[in-house]
Amino acid sequence: MTAENFTGQVAIITGAGQGIGFEIAKQIALQGAAVLINDVNQELANNAVTAIKNLGGNCIALVGDAADIDFIQQMVDTAVQQFGKLTIAIANAGITLYGDFLEYPASSLQSVMSLNLLGSFFLAQRAARQIIKQKSGGSILFMSSVTGHQAHKDLAAYGMTKAGLEMLAKSLVVELSPLQITVNTVAPGATLTERTLEDESYQDTWSRITPMGRPANVQDVANAVLFLVSPQAKHITGQNIVVDGGWTAVSTSPY
Ligand SMILES: NC(=O)c1ccc[n+]([C@@H]2O[C@H](COP(=O)([O-])OP(=O)(O)OC[C@H]3O[C@@H](n4cnc5c(N)ncnc54)[C@H](O)[C@@H]3O)[C@@H](O)[C@H]2O)c1
Repeated sequence: MTAENFTGQVAIITGAGQGIGFEIAKQIALQGAAVLINDVNQELANNAVTAIKNLGGNCIALVGDAADIDFIQQMVDTAVQQFGKLTIAIANAGITLYGDFLEYPASSLQSVMSLNLLGSFFLAQRAARQIIKQKSGGSILFMSSVTGHQAHKDLAAYGMTKAGLEMLAKSLVVELSPLQITVNTVAPGATLTERTLEDESYQDTWSRITPMGRPANVQDVANAVLFLVSPQAKHITGQNIVVDGGWTAVSTSPY
């Protein structure tokens, strides 16, 4: 994709202080978009904005909980006030709370569903309302996971939310396609981020069981996301791209 690909576009990216979200924010800003970077962690959000501005990108931070509906509306309003419009919404923030199904507490289920599903649903809703007012279309993207395709031990709640996001994208095709809004998902496999690298065996384990011989890096995932929200993908909607180095083709267990 060229440097001009996102010129004139305005994007919101949730959970973009580090990891996959930060890489998406960096790449899309460096290709011309103005970006609202959300994170619940103030230090991470501010550091992300400083890093991207130092590279020449145009972005602002908005600190808050991407699961909170009032805050979601504030993100949309702030993007419009600061940058004049909103054309791209990327619901990237998501949490993974591991736990044995037979002991899994309601509080964990509520937290996972609240951010992964409710936060993504209402970001899509509020972004779509704004994009419709502008009458020139836009793109919504949900961050799924291969855990929404293949069963993983101790991840029933998380996997359920990621499978749900892929069905949400398909469902919204009915209502949002006539308004020229695309809705797609990206499902990363094991990806090297600050969080996953806290597990010292993560890289070796996933290198061993991934057909391409390594886990994804954040650039691999961001490349797929940028394609799906770019002008090149404006006739692609309701679809998912798996970025997993072939893992779901064989699905060798990490355990
Ligand atoms: N890393 C992986 O291996 C992997 C694999 C498949 C899917 N995913 C998905 O990709 C997305 C990003 O994953 P990651 O590993 O880069 O994320 P991460 O766990 O590193 O978190 C990214 C950011 O989200 C922020 N955040 C957490 N809760 C938030 C909230 N309520 N509101 C706003 N921000 C919040 C964190 O502070 C953090 O800076 C998630 O949806 C995750 O489920 C990740």
